[in-house]
Amino acid sequence: MGFRVLGTGGCLPRRRVTNDELSQFLDTSDEWIRQRTGIAARHVCTTETLDDLATKAASEALRMAGVSPEDLDLVVCSTTSSDHLMPAEASAVSERLGARCPSFDVSAACAGFIFALDAADGWFARGRARYALVIGAERYSRILDWNDRATCVLFGDGAGAVVLGQADEGPLSLRLSTRPEVAALDVPGVTGNSPFYEGPQGPSVLSMKGREVFKFGVTSVVREIRALAKEAGMQPTDITHLVLHQANGRILDSATNALGLDPARVERTIQETGNISSACIPFALDRMVRQGRVHPGDTLAMVGFGAGLSVGSCLLRWDQLSAHVDDPQKPAAAPAD
Ligand code: ACO
Repeated sequence: MGFRVLGTGGCLPRRRVTNDELSQFLDTSDEWIRQRTGIAARHVCTTETLDDLATKAASEALRMAGVSPEDLDLVVCSTTSSDHLMPAEASAVSERLGARCPSFDVSAACAGFIFALDAADGWFARGRARYALVIGAERYSRILDWNDRATCVLFGDGAGAVVLGQADEGPLSLRLSTRPEVAALDVPGVTGNSPFYEGPQGPSVLSMKGREVFKFGVTSVVREIRALAKEAGMQPTDITHLVLHQANGRILDSATNALGLDPARVERTIQETGNISSACIPFALDRMVRQGRVHPGDTLAMVGFGAGLSVGSCLLRWDQLSAHVDDPQKPAAAPAD
């Protein structure tokens, strides 16, 4: 038993921050950010919470799928920037939606959406789910050091979601891996105010070895696309759409060149969102679906990579889902209410 995608949703916070705005308080420029990353703007939370973004994306996906929250058997949320250390972000979304099923989070940073998809795949394989909601939702604006120009210009906030339904076939291929290394990309946990703690104190903000992660990103994408295609008895050039983690436009360019692929097949949202971590893939997928660019029979390769260092990849053959797309022209990723 496998799954197919029945609906997608996406959400960005209302506030759009341009590179020029960042250069008003950081030693950076629009030119540097565009040339080195491909990012023109990102959206960040002002009054919205992550619960708001995740619930909006989930509601859109449920609506497209024609599935009621009460019919969900599982809610999994991938996040590393939840509104809550506990309970799970997925529980908060389930409460708001009115879902009454097991709800938990997955923490695998930018690879997390694929790890969450794999968890859901297991539920379908064991016959435990008819419908599952899988969300990627991130609010990195709360874990960035806004004085560090090498990292804070790269990220944004956002959410994406898919509703999955039981199907005879599963993904053509689904791969997870971790090359354990904390220092390459780390956000230390909060230290709290224990009167007994004697270890180091420090802010809970993101630090990253940019060049190392860049190389890891390119090699991971190239390896995964080749492996996904091979496992499905295809060539990389046979894959219709590549929905890759949006960390840096130059990572997308390098991987596309190394694989000899048509850049038009590689989805790009980074110019408007920056890196929204595990929300990148479901957000991009929602945009493609709502723009009517994914068709039954298409193959779709997704690759997420990041802190861990973890990589998740998945090759799907797209089934019909448009039965419930009541208005495909509706703009994707409406801001949170
Ligand atoms: N504006 C202006 N100058 C800057 C900025 C900025 N925003 N940021 C860095 N610089 C400077 C540096 O200080 C350095 O100056 P120096 O030569 O005087 O020391 C110079 O630019 C070059 O710095 P590099 O780090 O070598 O720049 P690079 O071209 O490697 O780009 C970047 C840096 C954008 C971070 C790149 O390495 C990158 O994208 N890495 C991958 C990031 C990534 O994949 N992240 C995934 C995260 S996934 C997750 O799990 C969260």
